[in-house]
Amino acid sequence: MAQFHPLLGLCVLITMTISHLGCVTAVAYRAPAVYRPSPWTLAHATFYGDESAASTMGGSCGYGNVVTNGYGTNTAALSSAIYNNGFACGQCFQIRCVQSPWCSKSIATITATNLCPPNWSQNSNNGGWCNPPRTHFDMAKPAFEQIAQWKAGIVPVMYRRVSCVRKGGIRFSFQGNGYWLLVYVMNVGGAGDISQMWVKGTKTAWIKMSHNWGASYQAFATLKGQALSFRITSYTTKQTIVANNVAPANWNLGLTYQANVNFH
Ligand SMILES: *[C@@H]1O[C@H](CO)[C@@H](O)[C@H](O)[C@H]1NC(C)=O
Repeated sequence: MAQFHPLLGLCVLITMTISHLGCVTAVAYRAPAVYRPSPWTLAHATFYGDESAASTMGGSCGYGNVVTNGYGTNTAALSSAIYNNGFACGQCFQIRCVQSPWCSKSIATITATNLCPPNWSQNSNNGGWCNPPRTHFDMAKPAFEQIAQWKAGIVPVMYRRVSCVRKGGIRFSFQGNGYWLLVYVMNVGGAGDISQMWVKGTKTAWIKMSHNWGASYQAFATLKGQALSFRITSYTTKQTIVANNVAPANWNLGLTYQANVNFH
């Protein structure tokens, strides 16, 4: 039988009327940090590939088949100025076309799944759209067609970071060998990004993983035969969550395991 806690009661009241910030420590209840959208900012967008979005598969973030891995065709390759060496992988953006007769009124929500590399043989203002310091989204064609007609080629856009809405927990896709575990992290909600990651076997302490490429992290350790847990820190919010026993002791390379936790 739960007893009424006056402080908790007060907290609930304040939560409903003002905000939950003041009450967090008082009742040892931590409200999940929710990623808040950034302000709208000017950039440009182009598209790559065709309607099938086949060319968006196997992008620099390491998500492989972005459709079967849940990102669909609403994806984009980011210029290096915002790709941030792969730390922007998994971030979500709303993009809308502005200042062009080819604009439609709708907003596309995309996930960063790829790098749009610089091309120094092209001028930054004439074809070298992804050259630093330009902020540029090279969108999958189906996503671009939500905001503008494809014949526009390039359009000015307003964009903002938004929270990534994902179904279910974070997914961990295993590669490597007996002494090296390489994990591709997918389906990350909230800010969508990762700054640090640790792995723990049932017989080990927490082992800090290093960033490999895109959204993949590695540990040089022998973890075979141990159930694995992961600890992940969000790049943007710095929030850390623990996913306990994500992979059972008989885990295998080439398989993907889903946690029952996620960021929001
Ligand atoms: C870079 O631009 C040049 C000139 O337009 C083009 O021929 C070349 O294919 C481009 N390179 C890449 C990697 O896209």
